[in-house]
Amino acid sequence: MNQKTHWENIYASKPRETLGWYKPHLETSLQWILDLGLPRTAPIIDVGGGASTLVDDLLDEGYEALTVLDLSANALSQSRERLGERASRVTWLTGDVTTMQLPGEGYALWHDRAVFHFLTTAAQRARYRDQMLKALQPGGHVIMGAFAPEAPPKCSGLPVERYDEARLCRALGETLELERSHKELHTTPGGVAQMYLYCQFKKRV
Ligand SMILES: C[S@@+](CC[C@H](N)C(=O)[O-])C[C@H]1O[C@@H](n2cnc3c(N)ncnc32)[C@H](O)[C@@H]1O
Repeated sequence: MNQKTHWENIYASKPRETLGWYKPHLETSLQWILDLGLPRTAPIIDVGGGASTLVDDLLDEGYEALTVLDLSANALSQSRERLGERASRVTWLTGDVTTMQLPGEGYALWHDRAVFHFLTTAAQRARYRDQMLKALQPGGHVIMGAFAPEAPPKCSGLPVERYDEARLCRALGETLELERSHKELHTTPGGVAQMYLYCQFKKRV
């Protein structure tokens, strides 16, 4: 089964509240974004945003230039439906972050929770990194949440890479400067403990 089919099936067959990565709100991501103090017009992309409510919370906070990208059209439809008419204020991109066309220097902030860790080959990670660096404005920020070394070796039935701070810094490259990091235990709706590493980076000018 290819990756797109895997994710489409997951979102079509299970309520989002039962998915392992589900959280009613991505509090850490939201708080870190608020802490950055970006202008409300700053372009922000949530990569692999799935059906998460981060976009709802950012709209509530007044952010005006939001993009949510995901491989799964089903996931994005769920978010669009939930948002109702507010969905038209968001740009929705369906596709693979490692290959799709993204605007050059188009974003002040790149957010990724639980997406990069699914890239298990060096070639995939290199493509992701290239895409991210091209799409980020100079001085732009990255907030990433990925499985920490203590987390299980699989997420959503797929193998994942697990990262400590040094390994994530190496994987994303020297163009990004680490600004902040934090480990956080997530418990899945099924009761499984998953340790996440959150890191915030700034693209060197
Ligand atoms: C574990 S879920 C996390 C969803 C969301 N970020 C959250 O924290 O609730 C991973 C998401 O990444 C998406 N995804 C996986 N591989 C992707 C890729 N190569 N390009 C874009 N999206 C991808 C999946 O469809 C899924 O919605």
